[in-house]
Order: sequence, then structure tokens, then C-alpha cells
Amino acid sequence: MKPSKQHVLLLWILLSSTVINAVEPFSSFKIPYFTETWNSIWGESCNSYWISFNQTGLKADLENKLFGQHIASDIIFKSVSGFMNDDNPKKPLVLSLHGPTGTGKNFVSQLIADNIYKKGYHSKFVHVFSATLHFPHRSEIVTYKSQLQEWIKNGVTNCERSVFIFDEMDQIPPGVIDSIKPYLDYGKVEGVFFQKSIIIFLSNTGADEITKTALDFWKDGKDREEMMLKDFESFISPIVFNSDQSSFSKSALIDSCLLDVFIPFLPLEYKHVVQCAMAVMRDKGLQPDENVADRAARSLVYYPKLEKVFAVSGCKMVIHRVHLYR
Ligand SMILES: Nc1ncnc2c1ncn2[C@@H]1O[C@H](COP(=O)(O)OP(=O)(O)O)[C@@H](O)[C@H]1O
Ligand SMILES: *[C@@H]1O[C@H](CO)[C@@H](O)[C@H](O)[C@H]1NC(C)=O
Repeated sequence: MKPSKQHVLLLWILLSSTVINAVEPFSSFKIPYFTETWNSIWGESCNSYWISFNQTGLKADLENKLFGQHIASDIIFKSVSGFMNDDNPKKPLVLSLHGPTGTGKNFVSQLIADNIYKKGYHSKFVHVFSATLHFPHRSEIVTYKSQLQEWIKNGVTNCERSVFIFDEMDQIPPGVIDSIKPYLDYGKVEGVFFQKSIIIFLSNTGADEITKTALDFWKDGKDREEMMLKDFESFISPIVFNSDQSSFSKSALIDSCLLDVFIPFLPLEYKHVVQCAMAVMRDKGLQPDENVADRAARSLVYYPKLEKVFAVSGCKMVIHRVHLYR
């Protein structure tokens, strides 16, 4: 055989084995393998390999990883599942999470992303905006408005199944958020489809009232789990709407009832902080130690001064304390 023929033969063998791998319809394991390789070569894209909703995963995560938030857990599971299982939603899903610091608002946003994107929260289709980072100056509102519109439009053009998270919503200058109203209002603007995206607003607005309600429940000797959404609904919307500081204030978003659900996050008790500390140790691959968790949790500040029911910073500080008490 001449060298050139040898090469042709070799090339033929290589090619045909690849093609067979790719198209052979009867082998159930070769095709997934090929898909896997193909997708990891090309990197994250807007397709069902990288984006697929795991309903059982979300349920399990909310039940096992999120502590002390029975109301939020329930509403988030129902609304996200309903939305993601609808192939043709009329408008984007808008969730508004309210409550004190360190109670799991960012954390739950991560759990949602983890069960939609293969890359989870780090997916390039998850866009996080923070007031202090993206919208620091009140004088720049006009610029921010058009920037935000561009960001959102580009995001959705890249991929219909995008998630937009607005952290510290209460500190975003008033009016900025209103600029995306048309996108939330109508499914389609300028040929861009928005109705498959999820928008999550995080804020401390209403935290004092949520805490007061939780404390009243506790004082009445009632079970925390007896608290229901309706115990909060009546006051959350007026507060959010009237608060001067709030970016929601006088907002067209509220006017047109575009926020689908207000989701209260309750202040966390000592026992939840202990659960957080145990989870941190597990996550870090350490042997979970009740004593360490207990000491870390007890080292935090609780309020009210006398009764010491709720942790001032929720589970935020306990993550670092765990290392101090090991
Ligand atoms: N309810 C909770 N259940 C489990 N972990 C929590 C909870 N709340 C807070 N944490 C932990 O504390 C960290 C900080 O909370 P975070 O979600 O950022 O609070 P928030 O956004 O409400 O201020 C989270 O990353 C998580 O590890
Ligand atoms: C969905 O989540 C469950 C529970 O976390 C997990 O066991 C399962 O492998 C996940 N399914 C997919 C397709 O990732």
C-alpha cells in the first residue's frame, strides 16, 4: 500500500467511527456520551442540555437546605414549577423576596438557578444586579435606565430562559427599575421575547413588619409554622409602595400589579442558626459537630434584648464563626 492510500484508509476509519457514534440510533449509551462531549467542547449554550428544570431537585433543595422559611419555600416551589413547566408563558415570572438580612433571600435565588441551569448560579444566563455595584449614584439615573434596558435586552436576546436578580432592591434609585416595565408588561418588545425569563427582586423593605408579626406569633405561644402568607400580604404591599426610600415607591411596577408574588422571609431563630452551622460544616467537607454549631450559634446577637428570639444577622455571620469554634 502506498503511503497516501494508507492515510486515506486511516482517515476513513477515523471518520466512520465518529459518524457511527453520532448517528447510530440503537445504542443507548453512545449518543448521550457524544452529546456530553459535543456540549462540553462548545461550552454553555442556550439549549436543553445546559438548561433543564429539575422539579424534584428544587423541592429537595428547598426542603433540605433552606431552614425556617416554610412560607417562602412553598410559594417559590409552586410558582417556579408552574412557570417552568409552562412552555408558553404569557409574561415573565416576577418574584419579590422581602425580609431581614441573612435569612436566605440570595441563597434561595441560588437554589432556583441550581435547578434550572447545569452551571447553576454561575451560568452566564443568570444576571445579578446589585444596587451598590451597578447603580451607585442617584445623579446617574438617566444613564442607568438605558444601561439596564440594554443589559436586559441583550440577556434575553442571548437566551430566552434567563434569570435576572436585583439585590438590595431598596437601594436602587427610584425610577431605574421602571425602565424595564415594558419588558415585563408585554411578552414581546422590539422583536425580543421576555416571557420565559424569571426576575427576582431582593429587599429588606418590610423587614421590620415581618419581624414584628413573627414576634407576635411567638409571644402568643403559637407555632412558627402556623404563620401563613395572608398574615403578611395585607401589610407588605402598602409598605413597599409607600416607603420613600424604596425603589418600589410610586413605581409603575406596583401600579400595574406586575409583581406576581410578595414573598416574606422570616427572621431566623437559634435552632435555624444551628442548622446553618451544621450545613456549613457539611458543605466544607468537615465532620458536622453539634458542639461547634451550638457555640457558634450562641456567640451571635439575638433580639429583642430580653427574650433573645431572633438572630440579628440571621445565618450570615455563623458561617465565619464555625471556624472560630472548631
Ligand atoms: N434560611 C436559610 N437556610 C439556610 N441557609 C441560610 C438561610 N439564610 C441564610 N443562610 C446562609 O447564610 C448565607 C447568607 O444568607 P443570604 O441568602 O445572603 O441572606 P439575605 O440575602 O437574606 O441577606 C447564605 O449563603 C446561606 O449559606
Ligand atoms: C434532580 O435532582 C435530584 C435531587 O437532587 C437528583 O437526584 C437528580 O439527579 C436530578 N436530576 C437531573 C436530571 O439532574
